[in-house]
Amino acid sequence: MEMRKGNIKKIEMINEEVFSMVLEFENEFVFKPGQFINIKVSEFDSPLLRRPISISRKISDKEIELLIKIEGIGTSQLKEKMIGTKLDLIGPLGNGFDIENLDKEKPILIVGGGIGIAPLRGLVQELVEEKYKNIIVVNGFRENPYGKADFKNTQYYEIDETKLNIFVTDYINENLLESDYQRVYACGPKIMLKKVYEIFNDIPVQLSMEEKMACGIGVCLGCAIKIKKDLFEYTYKKVCVDGPVFYGNEVIFDE
Ligand SMILES: Cc1cc2nc3c(=O)[nH]c(=O)nc-3n(C[C@H](O)[C@H](O)[C@H](O)COP(=O)(O)OP(=O)(O)OC[C@H]3O[C@@H](n4cnc5c(N)ncnc54)[C@H](O)[C@@H]3O)c2cc1C
Ligand code: FES
Repeated sequence: MEMRKGNIKKIEMINEEVFSMVLEFENEFVFKPGQFINIKVSEFDSPLLRRPISISRKISDKEIELLIKIEGIGTSQLKEKMIGTKLDLIGPLGNGFDIENLDKEKPILIVGGGIGIAPLRGLVQELVEEKYKNIIVVNGFRENPYGKADFKNTQYYEIDETKLNIFVTDYINENLLESDYQRVYACGPKIMLKKVYEIFNDIPVQLSMEEKMACGIGVCLGCAIKIKKDLFEYTYKKVCVDGPVFYGNEVIFDE
């Protein structure tokens, strides 16, 4: 567990409810795509709990970018921070996406839902740097899609779900089932993750799960989710330390 100070270098509104924040560190910040940081939002007691935010992508060896949707008190306070503020944070935390042992030529499908695109930007950044040639990204938004420019060098589909009156998973079912995907990665609402797994249950699917967190370091059990043990039994795993990325065939969704 590493505690650090991240100097806020830039805050930029992407739309009315989403902003990006660039943090700069004294030393190199090494992370795996899909890992997150736990941010102490206020120097006072409100809010008391840290807020988990994915490391969205690398800007340089000492700089990372976050993509944050304003939800409540914590994320609103983050948006109001002054440039030059030193944020108290813990991380990188969690396991991150597994990109070992993939074939550079075979198709990889990446599915995002809303702010779920945040960790997928870093995943795509790494896959492109590692010269994976066949990356297909499909991102669904309830309205006002954003982020297209972050997925250069991929075959990119942006789905405005309200305009098209479909979900991103309907689009996949209708248009994107032809390829022989070697791996699927997804981040977004739980119902979307469940549907993605149901569509691709015969290939490895990595899902970034989200649960409300308190400690973020495996102590409070606040983020436990049910995981299959065998056909009839289950156990619990903690999203903060065992995840947030799990294989689809481990997760019990209907609870
Ligand atoms: C591993 C992980 C990575 C995440 N990455 C991002 C990201 O990159 N960008 C982004 O915009 N959001 C991300 N989230 C969700 C983000 O943590 C919540 O939106 C945020 O904590 C809400 O805080 P708030 O004070 O604004 O809202 P409030 O609703 O006031 O928060 C109240 C409490 O609930 C917790 N909480 C509320 N919603 C969530 C949630 N969805 N997930 C976890 N805890 C929650 C807060 O930590 C706090 O303890 C991530 C969540 C997890 C678990
Ligand atoms: S947030 Fe406390 S154990 Fe995961």
